[in-house]
Amino acid sequence: MPAQNMEELVSLCKRRGFIFQGSEIYGGLQGFYDYGPLGVELKNNIKAAWWRANVYERDDMEGLDASIIMHRDVLRHSGHEATFSDPMVDNKKSKKRYRLDHLVKEQKADVQAKVAEAMGQSLDNFPALVQSLVQNPALASAALIASGVRDSFSGEVGDWTEPKPFNMMFKTTIGPTADEDSYGYLRPETAQGIFVNFKNVVDATSRRLPFGIAQIGKAFRNEITPRNFIFRVRELEQMEIEFFCVPGTDEDWHAHWLEKRLAWWEAQGVPRSRIEILDVPPEDLAHYSKRTYDLMYDYPTLGFEEIEGVANRSDYDLGSHTKSQAELGLVASVSENSDSIAKLTIPHPETNKPVVPFVIEPSAGVDRALLAVMSEAFTRETLANGSERIVLRLRPHLAPIKVAVIPLARNREEITSVAKAIKAELQALGLGRVLYEDSGNIGKAYRRHDEVGTPFCVTADFDTVGLGGEGKESDPALLNTVTVRDRDTLQQVRVPISELSAWIRSRLV
Ligand code: GAP
Repeated sequence: MPAQNMEELVSLCKRRGFIFQGSEIYGGLQGFYDYGPLGVELKNNIKAAWWRANVYERDDMEGLDASIIMHRDVLRHSGHEATFSDPMVDNKKSKKRYRLDHLVKEQKADVQAKVAEAMGQSLDNFPALVQSLVQNPALASAALIASGVRDSFSGEVGDWTEPKPFNMMFKTTIGPTADEDSYGYLRPETAQGIFVNFKNVVDATSRRLPFGIAQIGKAFRNEITPRNFIFRVRELEQMEIEFFCVPGTDEDWHAHWLEKRLAWWEAQGVPRSRIEILDVPPEDLAHYSKRTYDLMYDYPTLGFEEIEGVANRSDYDLGSHTKSQAELGLVASVSENSDSIAKLTIPHPETNKPVVPFVIEPSAGVDRALLAVMSEAFTRETLANGSERIVLRLRPHLAPIKVAVIPLARNREEITSVAKAIKAELQALGLGRVLYEDSGNIGKAYRRHDEVGTPFCVTADFDTVGLGGEGKESDPALLNTVTVRDRDTLQQVRVPISELSAWIRSRLV
């Protein structure tokens, strides 16, 4: 059974060093989180699993790592400068600022109904209600006040301003000058880095349609109300594919990618039965989308929320960058290759005529992936002896620590040296982190490793090195063997050291 509420996940993340509040010693910075020793391993393993499945295991993909700060024109011509905004509203009494749709959604049902009625809308179509509030700001302000919409912070009925759009892109100045034109944007999606490199990748790899470009990287959104731990943050990480195909084949590829992505989530321990597919209604689509399927995962406490979007972006982005380059006169400035550089086209595989491809985009958040993977793995169980344990049943390839090697007595050099040699040998397998741990109490070590999802604990003891100990003779049959404890079954088996690497490898790969 997955985690029952967000609180138990947040508490585990902090307690065991997965995730910390950003800038915590100065009071924290809302919407920013730091990944600790175990969080960084889990995150890297998720990203590696994604890259393996989407780049290495396919023959129609290339990788990319584009820069985070982008030319202002890229985000202007992608449509983000004009449209990448959320509606916000202020309470003049409390001076608090809210995202309009979140504020209305948080109200009691009767208050929501009053707002809808005042706007002449139905609550059944929430996106249309929000749209009408945004398009009729004066009426919206009056409706929010008259309907008794409460401030989520103070709990009192607010004195609401007219809603207005708030652009979520972070601007930053570039270089020592601070004139009007010297700023760029921190990209709000990694996708634009792929679009602006489309021609570079095609020229460098001689790719023909269909093919895709994959990228993992940070994106930044100045969310009005970041919330729910790492679910909605201002600095996020995305795993995005832009898959370029012949116009007319886009709907088939859309279906293909939806299926592939669901299979990938399943392989990470997030089953299909816990994901609902939302065919996003037209009025709720992003400015670039022809059609989008949102994968809605059942997060603890939050309920079904988006973990990934699989969008058909049509030829919107490549088309609009092509048009914009021509408008900006860049054709003239890039000499003889100008035409091919300016036009983000590729030969049609059958006619050989230049075509602006259509794009299917599976776009998943790494932070939301980590939260879902942890939530599915989180298990609270009662053991045969009546005691309770928390165990993170992560798929082994995602586990932050693959094996913990524990000497039973930390002050016996005969034992610790064997344990250290085992750690070095297992580490050399290249399966991920192997931890040598001599904290003392073996029971506590097992509990800690259950909580962080370590699949195996290997213990070297007195018998391993042929020493009698704790009042008993050494058992010669156990010489050069260690105990391996399984996280999930709790079974302990004795394995010869000479066979340990193969034993572990066969269970972790
Ligand atoms: N390039 C398309 C794009 O960016 P999106 O639906 O805005 O589409 C894609 O974002 C994914 O990025 C989401 O499904 C989610 O997993 C993640 N994401 C978006 N905003 C986020 C935020 N503020 N905090 C955490 N993850 C976020």
